[in-house]
Amino acid sequence: MAQQVNGVIAPGKNEPVRVETIIVPDPGPGEAVVQIQACGVCHTDLHYKQGGINDDFPFLLGHEAAGVVESVGAGVTDVAPGDFVVLNWRAVCGTCRACERGRPWYCFATHNARQKMTLTDGTELSAALGIGAFAEKTLVAAGQCTKVDPSVAPAVAGLLGCGVMAGIGAAINTGQVGRGDSVAVIGCGGVGDAAIVGSRLAGAARIIAVDIDDRKLETARTMGATHTVNSRTTDPVEAIRELTGGFGADVVIEAVGRPETYQQAFYARDLAGTVVLVGVPTPEMTLELPLLDVFGRGGALKSSWYGDCLPSRDFPMLIDLHQQGRIDLAAFVTETIGLGDVEKAFARMHEGDVLRSVVVF
Ligand code: APR
Ligand code: ZN
Ligand code: ZN
Repeated sequence: MAQQVNGVIAPGKNEPVRVETIIVPDPGPGEAVVQIQACGVCHTDLHYKQGGINDDFPFLLGHEAAGVVESVGAGVTDVAPGDFVVLNWRAVCGTCRACERGRPWYCFATHNARQKMTLTDGTELSAALGIGAFAEKTLVAAGQCTKVDPSVAPAVAGLLGCGVMAGIGAAINTGQVGRGDSVAVIGCGGVGDAAIVGSRLAGAARIIAVDIDDRKLETARTMGATHTVNSRTTDPVEAIRELTGGFGADVVIEAVGRPETYQQAFYARDLAGTVVLVGVPTPEMTLELPLLDVFGRGGALKSSWYGDCLPSRDFPMLIDLHQQGRIDLAAFVTETIGLGDVEKAFARMHEGDVLRSVVVF
């Protein structure tokens, strides 16, 4: 029987979000219904509301979530009712050219549930990133569920579903930060701070945090930054070079997603160093660089999709490391809120007041 639950809807471009009754169908083949326990408020949810992703309103928002599998459809064997899971937005297909070549973290054909959730009048909902977890229950593809240790608080575990994984993965998967490396992270929101945590975990000797907001730099220090640079008042390229013997960092992680910060990252790295772009640019942005510098500085210019993560490998590992006290995922939860507080949380996020507000059910 299809079920009626409360969910947070973005009804139209820039209209305030609101809680509405939504209909969650029974899981079909390859699908699962998950009872959501916690879901973080991410920038991408705000982008959906602002019409910055696409125009497929109404959206069911929320995608950084953890919960318990309630029911599964035919053919689902990897998860079962009762499993505590973190949801991911890149369920790998197993058969595309990336998967077949043994690189499933790049999967080019990730999938979501086939059926749609709806409003009570039958209007189909577009689930944010194929998840839609600002809801008491949601319908996803079973491959979007990764089973993890249930003793971790859902508000903490759920954050692995997006920003925290993107940042940690940008450092350890994409950037391949190694023991003794120098790393600079430009932009210290949730994603940048997670990149700092990942760099520290990987053994970076020097971690330079760059931001335009001193509050963010203070938090970055508690996350593991060894040095901070306010790029509103100090040239970040020069500062990073000074802090690295005059050369630049081995790895520079750009966690803002703007041409000017990408350019800083490009010039703040040492010869043959690596730039990782994990911040997401908007369609009108372009980049101009002297091609001779691209050649002459060598190294690698990489983008990081969702931290190039493989949820089945990385989520349980990071939960284990958190349990052992080797990383502190709880530090990313600034506040827990109710389902009706998402609009207010967007405003706080916009002001830069929070790393993550997390809706807890
Ligand atoms: N230079 C340095 N830092 C900047 C600049 C700049 N020009 N502009 C903004 N910042 C800082 C902000 O002060 C903030 O601390 O970048 C940080 C961005 O953090 P959040 O807004 O919290 O965003 P976050 O969730 O970390 O995501 C960062 O990654 O996944 C993408 O879409 C996401 O593009 C976004 C980026
Ligand atoms: Zn694939
Ligand atoms: Zn997100």
